[in-house]
Amino acid sequence: MSARLTTETAPHSENAPLTWGAGASESLELSVVIPTFNERANVAPLLARLDRALDGVAWQAVFVDDNSPDGTAAAVKAIARTDPRIQCLRRIGRRGLAGAVLEGVLASSAPYVAVIDADLQHDESILPQMLGALRGGRADLVIGSRYLTADGATRGLSPIRLAGSRLATSLARSVLRADVTDPVSGFFMIRRELVEQVTPRLSDQGFKILFDVIASQPEPPRILEIPYAFSERQAGISKLDGRVVLDYFGLILSKMTRGLLPPRFLLFGLVGLSGVLVHLAVLYAERTAGLRFEMAQGGAALVAMTSNFIFNNLITYRDRRLRGWRLLSGYLRFCALCSLGLAANLAIGDLVHSWTPLWWLAGLSGALFGAAWNYVSTSLAVW
Ligand code: GDD
Ligand code: MN
Repeated sequence: MSARLTTETAPHSENAPLTWGAGASESLELSVVIPTFNERANVAPLLARLDRALDGVAWQAVFVDDNSPDGTAAAVKAIARTDPRIQCLRRIGRRGLAGAVLEGVLASSAPYVAVIDADLQHDESILPQMLGALRGGRADLVIGSRYLTADGATRGLSPIRLAGSRLATSLARSVLRADVTDPVSGFFMIRRELVEQVTPRLSDQGFKILFDVIASQPEPPRILEIPYAFSERQAGISKLDGRVVLDYFGLILSKMTRGLLPPRFLLFGLVGLSGVLVHLAVLYAERTAGLRFEMAQGGAALVAMTSNFIFNNLITYRDRRLRGWRLLSGYLRFCALCSLGLAANLAIGDLVHSWTPLWWLAGLSGALFGAAWNYVSTSLAVW
């Protein structure tokens, strides 16, 4: 650039138009969001495949990495240095596929967003077809479905995973009242505004982001499914575990009750049930050791409360887990609030029993009120 040119087009000259981006030759059309946790070996092969599949499309890739110990973020950034289409969001101190996908979508700016796993299990070659459907206005959301072909899912999933996946799918379909064969797919493309408009309502835990996005729409979106064959994972291991599954059923329950029960309530309730078993086991042990009933009952209640606190801290509120001093003060608050819950449970049980001879109804009313109190109060004051 010559010196004369720079002085003539001074940056703050009054005549310079205050526009930005007009120089770009083509405007960005598609953002591909890729959540990663320990996927270093898959980064380069995935980008090579995307580059081939999306030839002729103005696209960008947004990796969202939860600080993978294997250095996935560094691998992405090494490529991003020479390719400005590639970006990496590195999240510290957080885990969760749904939250990672959401942040990727919120960080992107193209009108259409695709979400794809990093492990090469999804078939990127159908991306242009998905984009075509959105462009043409035939759909608001296009899902890559494993179940539209006879053996689409069987190669990449074990028999147990396949059965579980089918159960999850049929429950989700009954809640969504939409004819979607794969509502828990991690492979889809959507108009970005559909996600942006419901973001505050979405849960950031677990794997059910697509289901959540569909269920939260004010108007039913027009959905198109495109079949693909789910392949086997290339490198690394799956992160879908028992907690992810429980989380998912919690969300289904929440949607079935139209949001009356929050997604965490299922986990909280299961932990509470485990507490009843702990209580009975401890009571049994104390009685065989010859303790008086009142003493034994009090001891068993304390042990059960403690185990409830530990499990809720480990599982139900794993994303807000208390540690150190906050663990101790949280424990004391938890015990105080649950004792109030027990008192309320007994009082309500007595009251209902004075109205009706149905002992189980009285007991159930007290127990439900106590559980609701415990849930609401501890979620506000402990976690
Ligand atoms: N950032 C981030 N944080 N990424 C994650 C996390 C997390 O906590 N957990 C998993 N991922 C990434 C993985 O690195 C991978 O790219 C993708 O999310 C899918 O994770 P997998 O662990 O490979 O899941 P899967 O193959 O067992 O599960 C498949 O089926 C699910 C249910 O249908 C995937 O297709 C999921 O997307 C799908 O929801
Ligand atoms: Mn996978």
